[in-house]
Formats: sequence, C-alpha cells, structure tokens
Amino acid sequence: MTTNPWLTIPLDDYEGHMDLPQVGQLAFLRQTLKTALQQRQPASLLYLGAASGNGLEAVDPEVTRRVMAVDINPDYLQAARNRYAASLPQLQTLAVDLQGDTSSLQGQYDLIFAGLLFEYLPPADLLEKVVTWLSPSGRLLVVLQEENPELAEVSPSPFTCLQHLGSIMQLVPEAEFAELAKKAGLRELQGEKKTLDSGKCFYIGQWGRAENIQN
Ligand SMILES: C[S@@+](CC[C@H](N)C(=O)[O-])C[C@H]1O[C@@H](n2cnc3c(N)ncnc32)[C@H](O)[C@@H]1O
Repeated sequence: MTTNPWLTIPLDDYEGHMDLPQVGQLAFLRQTLKTALQQRQPASLLYLGAASGNGLEAVDPEVTRRVMAVDINPDYLQAARNRYAASLPQLQTLAVDLQGDTSSLQGQYDLIFAGLLFEYLPPADLLEKVVTWLSPSGRLLVVLQEENPELAEVSPSPFTCLQHLGSIMQLVPEAEFAELAKKAGLRELQGEKKTLDSGKCFYIGQWGRAENIQN
C-alpha cells in the first residue's frame, strides 16, 4: 500500500508554501472560515482536513462550544492542539483517513468546513459521509480550486515536497461537485468565486441538507 503524500509533508513546509505571497491560500482559507463563523454563529464546528487548524482563531469559544478537527496527519493535529490549547480548550482532534473507516467520527455539526480537501480524495464518498455529520439546519462550507490551464495545480515554490501532492491531487469541477452533492442529499445555499493575486480561482459554496431547506 502506498503512503498518502500528506503524511510525508512537514507542517512547516505546508504552511510555508501556502503562506508564500505568490500562493496566499492560507490567508484566503482563514478568511473564508472566519466569514462563515461570523455569519452562521454555529454551536458546533467540524473541520475536515484541518491541518494545524488554520482559521480556528476566529472561533468564539462562547458561541461554538464543540470543535472537532480531523486530518490524516497526526503531527498537524498535534500542532493544532498546541496552538489552540489556551484559546480554544474545547478543541478535539481525530487523526483518521477520511477515505477509510470513519466510524470513530460521530455526532452532527452546525458547520462543516472542507477547504481544499475534496481535491485529495473521492468526493462522492466523502459527501455521503458529510450528510450524516450535518445537523438538520447545518451547513457544509466548501472551497474548491478551479482548473486553470495556464497555472500549475500545485504552485511552484521552494518547498519542493509539496509537488508530491501532484500524484493524488485531482481538481473537482464545480459542476461535478454540485451533481455529487445533490445526489448525496445536499442543496446549494450560497456560491461564489474568488480569484487570488496568483490568478488561481476558487469556488466557495455553502450547502445544506436538501430535505430541511424551504424553497
Ligand atoms: C490543502 S490542505 C487544507 C488545510 C486547511 N483547510 C487549511 O486551511 O490550511 C488539505 C488537508 O487535508 C488533509 N487530508 C488530505 N487527504 C486526507 C484524507 N484522506 N483524510 C484526512 N485528511 C486528509 C491533509 O493532511 C491537509 O492537512
């Protein structure tokens, strides 16, 4: 069995790459989560593909009483626990491969954040799981990277180990995501595009459980 490349990338390299001015994705994802937290005021947050918890500084611990961060890389989650031990004592973490057995992840959440995660695993399977983790009025906040034939999917940078991600990274076109999400029982409530200085464009969507959404 091959090792998932995410287990081979040191956190400093991941964060160093994402924080480069020509990449700028760490700040973008942080702001995306912050905006949704302010808008939704969720009592619970499930952060899928959380890495070291980018954006969790925007969680108001008095409002969002339950916070669960999930990632395949236990070292990233250890960094998250260290980083937020004082400001977010309710932070729980779970190191699990979201492509595999996720029965250890129980309960439902008012906000589920998956920022640049669907690119690294089969989206249909994860969407079916997400529906079971969403509270009846909950929202899935998703960020997808859009295809741009003029730009490399993983931006070139001095952090060369990030290039290993090319072996598993598969962009998910918005239309394909929408079809899979609808099939899983979700309905889009908000959708927008954001282009960063790098020229990369992203889809930011909020989805809820279709059966609970009034027309
Ligand atoms: C592009 S990063 C996004 C991190 C985070 N949203 C942020 O703002 O920094 C994708 C994250 O998903 C995690 N990941 C990738 N595949 C995964 C899988 N199969 N199961 C669980 N986590 C996974 C990686 O370890 C990585 O931390």
